Amino acid sequence: MSLAITNIGSLVTNDSNLGSGILGELENASLVIEDGKIAWVGNSASAPTTDQAIDAQGMGVIPGFVDSHAHLVFAGDRSKEFEARMNGEKYSAGGIKSTVAKTRAASDAELEANFLSLQNEMIRSGITTFESKSGYGLSVKDEARSLAIAAKHTSETTFLGAHVVPEDYAGKADEYVSLVTSEMLETCAPHAKWVDVFCDVGAFDVDQSRAILQAGIAKGLQPRIHANQLAQSGGVQLAVELDCASADHCTHLSNADIEALAGSNTVATLLPGAEFSTRAAYPDAKKLFAAGVTVALATDCNPGSSYTTSMGFCIAVAIRDMGFSPEQAIWSATMGGAKALRRTDVGALSVGMSADLSILSAPSFRHLGYRPGVDQISQVLKSGKTIYKHQDGN
Ligand code: NIG
Ligand code: FE
Repeated sequence: MSLAITNIGSLVTNDSNLGSGILGELENASLVIEDGKIAWVGNSASAPTTDQAIDAQGMGVIPGFVDSHAHLVFAGDRSKEFEARMNGEKYSAGGIKSTVAKTRAASDAELEANFLSLQNEMIRSGITTFESKSGYGLSVKDEARSLAIAAKHTSETTFLGAHVVPEDYAGKADEYVSLVTSEMLETCAPHAKWVDVFCDVGAFDVDQSRAILQAGIAKGLQPRIHANQLAQSGGVQLAVELDCASADHCTHLSNADIEALAGSNTVATLLPGAEFSTRAAYPDAKKLFAAGVTVALATDCNPGSSYTTSMGFCIAVAIRDMGFSPEQAIWSATMGGAKALRRTDVGALSVGMSADLSILSAPSFRHLGYRPGVDQISQVLKSGKTIYKHQDGN
């Protein structure tokens, strides 16, 4: 069965051989999907005939967003903590512990229902691939069940047993690191693809982080890291040393950090929702782009520092406050995310890629930053199948 999407006003392919700019933008385009993959892309006038067609009515089409950083397994919310911050309090890593208590007390069914509700929000915001971390269980049993729940719904699962030292190990950080690198890792590894650590003030230092990531690597997991969110923690340099797929947050970067990233295979994943919701200063993406660093944008959806599933919101903030051009923001939320997950099958709409895409209710990708906070996702396809269609309510 072949399916065409015809009459596309502006198509983002992310293949500069197919169209203009870094987004490989094609106007008056069509694409053809076969067996869940892109089989043809080009000008509408020369489109081949297909079994079925969707008329995009001159609207924009973009690749599905690839959200390479999210924490979807948790219970409860921290709206009061957000309110206190907006009234002047500072964000600290310690808030994570209140979510740990609620997560431990929740049943598997409650955790999965919350996960699915966030997953649905993501899909409605045009996200077709997402990563999810553990990190609110912080015991062998609760980390393992967190990952087992996430693994039912995404292949991009990350073991984050080293999110913070939990209350029950207060003052015994080294003992907790030993647990994470032995029994907890052993039990969690079968459900995880990635290993992550929060390398920052109030969480884990560079030596502890190195030990945790190396233990994960030895177990067959691939490393990624929360780095330099709250300070120049040394996390970015560690990311490069260990060839992490991604160093995430990068809020506080030295020139040496930027140089290290530029000479590496590690993506800098920026998380605008976190600076927005913790009222922190935004990192300057212009410096990263100028140095030639590969940059991704992700939601960091979590109940503490960034409770959003909206990639459109992240794109708008990235453009307005972090120095991204509209083109760079869309690229970073699609191809950048794919690179941060070391995926080569998603993030672009060229022949052979997975047919993961959004049809917009706007003429082009430019409207995503231009109309912040407005839902402009009309239809979402994953592997060529419609997984969301906007219904007019009136
Ligand atoms: O990515 N920075 C560490 N972890 C999360 C925040 C977790 C929380 O505050 O609950 C983040 O921002
Ligand atoms: Fe995070």
